[in-house]
Amino acid sequence: MEENETGIQSSTTDDEINYNGTGNGDIWQWAAKKSQDMECEKKLNIDLQLRCDSPGSDSLDPDSLDRAIYYDVLDWDTVSSSQRTSLFPKWRLPMKMAFLLALFMFMYTFLREVLYPYVTKSKNEFYRIPILVVNKVLPVVAITLLTMAYLPGIFATVIQLHRGTKYKRFPSWLNTWMLRRKQFGLLSFFIGAMHAIYSLSYPMRRSYRYKLLNWAYEQVKQQKESSWIEHDVWRMEIYVCLGIISLAILGILAVASIPSVSHSLSWREYQFIQSKMGYVALLLSTAHTLVFAWNKWADVSQFIWCMPPSFMLAVFLPILVLLCRAIFLLPCFSKRIQKIRYGWEATKPMNKNCVLTHM
Ligand code: HEM
Repeated sequence: MEENETGIQSSTTDDEINYNGTGNGDIWQWAAKKSQDMECEKKLNIDLQLRCDSPGSDSLDPDSLDRAIYYDVLDWDTVSSSQRTSLFPKWRLPMKMAFLLALFMFMYTFLREVLYPYVTKSKNEFYRIPILVVNKVLPVVAITLLTMAYLPGIFATVIQLHRGTKYKRFPSWLNTWMLRRKQFGLLSFFIGAMHAIYSLSYPMRRSYRYKLLNWAYEQVKQQKESSWIEHDVWRMEIYVCLGIISLAILGILAVASIPSVSHSLSWREYQFIQSKMGYVALLLSTAHTLVFAWNKWADVSQFIWCMPPSFMLAVFLPILVLLCRAIFLLPCFSKRIQKIRYGWEATKPMNKNCVLTHM
């Protein structure tokens, strides 16, 4: 969620905003985009004024303003038709990724939780598809997309450390990925919120009520007075709490990425929210998953048809990103990263005019 943009700036292409920012968001990227936005707004305002001031035009009332904006839209003749027809271009990569991941996770969970009991025990578990299977897909997609928002920053830092400079353009795939971090983050928040709603709906389901009755009946048959399992109670209290806090932080990140809000923030505030709080959200959602899994990590029966449980798949990438981030915080790395970001170079560049991006 690190980009910062306005609707007016929508005609700007990604290549125009090439930056060689850091993984945690770069002050130059932020500043350049902000000034670009302001310039676009200024241009539009001058344009509107000229149109409204021109002979025959109405005075500057809301109606005429509407019309002026409408003329502006018509002026988009200069924009190529492919650009005009492409809808939500910035969302394509994150949406495609989310869709493919969701499809994979759905089939994976279907095999494990529906087909396996049907084939091996002739148990009909198809009722699990609409809520339980979907709610295995959603959190895995949410946490992976959140990781995708921070993974390019890790690559960028590694590249900068390796090159010893920030004055070199990143590979184009990384540049594109960096420019999609905001969309990855927002999508993660949206899917995470859906996961929360699905999770909170569990006790409302009829299937759950029947199961509860059956468990109670079994307990009576076994003449057990209490079914309280202390560690299970703690497990659930903790992981739900962690989930709620991480979703709340993701909500703050999403609000802070609204252009009018991000424009009202100073660079340091923006950086703090998008980078520091973002990593805290990733850390908490990973902890949420780890506590949810609790002692299932050591349980071999969790492997079905040699397929590991979905929580194992879910935490692999986030742990990797968090580990890398922790390593970069070590003084030996953090000092060098800091120096590079302030403009220091390991070897003097041959010709500074060759620098493609200065940020
Ligand atoms: C109000 C917030 C949240 C609540 C109440 C909540 C609740 C839950 C519940 C009940 C489960 C167990 C699901 C099951 O039994 O299959 C779960 C699992 C999980 N949650 Fe959350 N969660 C929240 C937020 C989040 C967020 C923000 C993320 C990540 C961005 C997340 C990621 C996960 C993951 C990866 C799992 C493990 C799924 C699996 O593989 O089985 N949750 N959560």
